[in-house]
Amino acid sequence: MESNQQYQDLAGKTALITGGTKGIGKAIADRLSQAGARVIVTARHQPEETDSPPPFIKADITQPQQVAELAQAITETYGGLDILVNNVGGVTAPGGGFSSLTDQDWEQELQFNLLAAIRLDRALLPTMIAQKSGVIIHVSSVAGIKPVWYHNLAYAVSKAGLNAYSKALSNELAPKGIRVLTVSPGATNTPLMQQLVQRYAATAGLGADEAFQQMAAQAGGIPMGRMAEPAEVAALVYFLVSPAASYLTGANYLVDGGTVPVV
Ligand SMILES: NC(=O)c1ccc[n+]([C@@H]2O[C@H](COP(=O)([O-])OP(=O)(O)OC[C@H]3O[C@@H](n4cnc5c(N)ncnc54)[C@H](OP(=O)(O)O)[C@@H]3O)[C@@H](O)[C@H]2O)c1
Repeated sequence: MESNQQYQDLAGKTALITGGTKGIGKAIADRLSQAGARVIVTARHQPEETDSPPPFIKADITQPQQVAELAQAITETYGGLDILVNNVGGVTAPGGGFSSLTDQDWEQELQFNLLAAIRLDRALLPTMIAQKSGVIIHVSSVAGIKPVWYHNLAYAVSKAGLNAYSKALSNELAPKGIRVLTVSPGATNTPLMQQLVQRYAATAGLGADEAFQQMAAQAGGIPMGRMAEPAEVAALVYFLVSPAASYLTGANYLVDGGTVPVV
């Protein structure tokens, strides 16, 4: 998609991107803005940079009270949303398999990757239902389909739960005019992935490149031989929220360079 003028198919739409200040979330915010959407981003820290940053609402979306305040601010200021991208998530628990994970690690991973999205959807859905339209995206991971026990056991379980929740929600909301979709990236070049590579490199006594190659090999390899760039994930999200995807709901789309080895 080249020209911003030619593809303003999200003009008039209001979109909230959680974690829209870095990595995949920032790329989604940029892509949807290019397509003409009014984009609002939320994260725990306001970014310092940029010429014309999108409206920012500070919230830690693992905290129920802050989610309630975020939803209230969105409803009062913008009257609701057309597009909600639940992008926040990531690996917070240590690697090493089942014996390395405490109850607290499991609870934190489930809050971050599953319950935060469920809570935010619940807070924002009433206005979408009232307007009889909307699109919700859940950013999951290939780990939800293809867990790697050493690196991401609790994360993978949380994302698998998100996949099932997203499917069930799509069935409930399809008759109400709301589409719900899941996007599952593979390894993507973001601050989160860089931290994970550094963590493994330190544990294994390797350089960053070698550490990433080992991690990718442990996950079964990446046929394309490289990570995704965030813009490549954002291109898929843009398509899914656009009018061109009007008959799509309930599916989980991989953007993984061929990583998941099954059809
Ligand atoms: N990168 C990958 O390889 C990869 C692969 C598969 C799936 N994914 C998924 O893609 C999504 C985005 O990942 P990413 O790699 O882009 O992550 P990232 O680089 O860590 O960026 C995370 C974003 O979320 C915000 N954030 C973090 N915790 C938050 C909280 N509690 N409340 C509100 N905002 C919060 C961060 O800003 P603040 O720190 O200021 O809050 C930042 O804007 C996640 O769901 C992840 O599981 C990523």
